[in-house]
Amino acid sequence: MPIDVAAVVIGNRPLSSDYHVLALAAPAIAAAAAPGQFVMVKAGAGYDPLLRRPFSVFEILRDAAGAPAGLTILSKRIGVSTALLYDKAQGQRVHCLGPLGRPFTVVDPPTEAWMVAGGVGLAPFATLAQALHARGVKSTLFYGARRGAELFYLDFFRALDVELVLTTEDGSAGELGRVVAPLDRRLASRAPTAAVMLYACGPEGMLAATARTAVKYGRPCQVSVERIMGCGLGGCYSCVIPMRDEHGSVHHVRSCIAGPVLPADRIVWDQ
Ligand SMILES: Cc1cc2nc3c(=O)[nH]c(=O)nc-3n(C[C@H](O)[C@H](O)[C@H](O)COP(=O)(O)OP(=O)(O)OC[C@H]3O[C@@H](n4cnc5c(N)ncnc54)[C@H](O)[C@@H]3O)c2cc1C
Ligand code: FES
Repeated sequence: MPIDVAAVVIGNRPLSSDYHVLALAAPAIAAAAAPGQFVMVKAGAGYDPLLRRPFSVFEILRDAAGAPAGLTILSKRIGVSTALLYDKAQGQRVHCLGPLGRPFTVVDPPTEAWMVAGGVGLAPFATLAQALHARGVKSTLFYGARRGAELFYLDFFRALDVELVLTTEDGSAGELGRVVAPLDRRLASRAPTAAVMLYACGPEGMLAATARTAVKYGRPCQVSVERIMGCGLGGCYSCVIPMRDEHGSVHHVRSCIAGPVLPADRIVWDQ
């Protein structure tokens, strides 16, 4: 069952003029959250904005004894709610409902995990990388951003033995271009017998390109989709996404409850 708390802001760290990490005291949600799940956050106290907004659980915070004490979200300022969150001060309260949605399926060795992140799509991969590391899975993060200054938490992933493959749109760090290019090359050079699970989160165009690349090389791929969500609970149908069932028929599913993590090869990307 999701838990709704008026969580105290215990930290708000700007990473750039748009990105920040907001830390919330929400131990019950933190204790129940699995990698890939999200929370619905109400950014303001009044009616504007009226609706909560969805955010991936970025990190689980622990107290000195190792017990879950809270969680963070990695947020990018793009509109009314994210602007309010960017300005939150320590001690303020933020309504937070979760954990919600279906998490990633975490693989075991010898399968390797290749995570593909675009921009703020990095968010679900911090907890996933920790879960993979705990199981001893060899992991790689393909991470693309607009510029080098927007590639965050690299040392966090390095400390978990995650190999980093970085790209930027302006060439200021890593390879110039989009993140799917090095992914395609790596998959092309990979023996088909060596098992790899792809995990992707980012803008939908990047997810569709990753899904096509996965199909091209016959690799399974779990994507975390970011449709606009009004409720996060299955009640409003704002978040539907077309998917093909096993018979080839197309149905719209509510990505907040069927997802946000979905099998990439079932999604109809061009509708
Ligand atoms: C499951 C899930 C997890 C998410 N995790 C994160 C996260 O970890 N960090 C993060 O920064 N963001 C995340 N998002 C996206 C985040 O929910 C939106 O950025 C947020 O709702 C924008 O709210 P706003 O009030 O600031 O923008 P608004 O003022 O509501 O909108 C500003 C503009 O952005 C557009 N927009 C709003 N939401 C989306 C969206 N989901 N996709 C594309 N365009 C959108 C609107 O159409 C509008 O043009 C996630 C979304 C989903 C569905
Ligand atoms: S967000 Fe309301 S049904 Fe999915």
